[in-house]
Amino acid sequence: MSRKPIIAGNWKMNKTLSEAQAFVDAVKNNLPSSEKVDSVIGAPALFLAPMAYSRQGSELQLAAENSYFENAGAFTGENSPAAIADLGIEYIIIGHSERREYFHETDEDINKKAKAIFANGLTPILCCGETLETFEAGKTAEFVSAQIEAGLEGLTAEQVSKLVIAYEPIWAIGTGKTATNEIADETCGVVRSTVEKLYGKEVSEAVRIQYGGSVKPETIEGLMAKENIDGALVGGASLEAESFLALLEIYK
Ligand code: 13P
Repeated sequence: MSRKPIIAGNWKMNKTLSEAQAFVDAVKNNLPSSEKVDSVIGAPALFLAPMAYSRQGSELQLAAENSYFENAGAFTGENSPAAIADLGIEYIIIGHSERREYFHETDEDINKKAKAIFANGLTPILCCGETLETFEAGKTAEFVSAQIEAGLEGLTAEQVSKLVIAYEPIWAIGTGKTATNEIADETCGVVRSTVEKLYGKEVSEAVRIQYGGSVKPETIEGLMAKENIDGALVGGASLEAESFLALLEIYK
């Protein structure tokens, strides 16, 4: 089965609105067709409404970097998946290692978010990945599959076949240390086998799995050539329009 590649930037807490808008202007007429690749930018929630407006008619898709799991209520400072869905954007990133580490998000929170996001008609990009300590102890496979099992708990087969999962080893994020293509492929393969164990072959062949961690225009082609890697989640190299477009060059 052929899965459509998905190359997504994750801006994290960077840029101002005027910088975000300048980026959209620079990329919007230069993106490859969405028949070949999904080109996505994950941006701070504050910028999503104006970016959703200015990207109209282009191939640029948008992701929120987080959301809460309730649709409304007394949750000061949070954004609901319902409000994000109403902006007409496509994805919400959940469970990024920075959110797990600095904001103490648990697998259970992330699972509730996945359900709420699907209930609002958007697609979650569910992140997983191990620390250097876990990697060096040789426990990556068991750690990552436990994160996936907990994150998917109670989701339907139909939902999981539409899901995007991003495998991001924490030791490769922002460090310039990319996992080798083989390590990245192997652990994306562990993610796919975990999905197969839970939902069967058809769903595991449909779910899209990204690698993230110091992906650059120079390294993306080798990663994308690997069997289990369907895309990339890219921090630093997605911040400049030229570099984001260079990540997509192979699909032009
Ligand atoms: P870098 O590409 O800057 O290593 O960030 C990866 C990441 O965390 C994307 O979500």
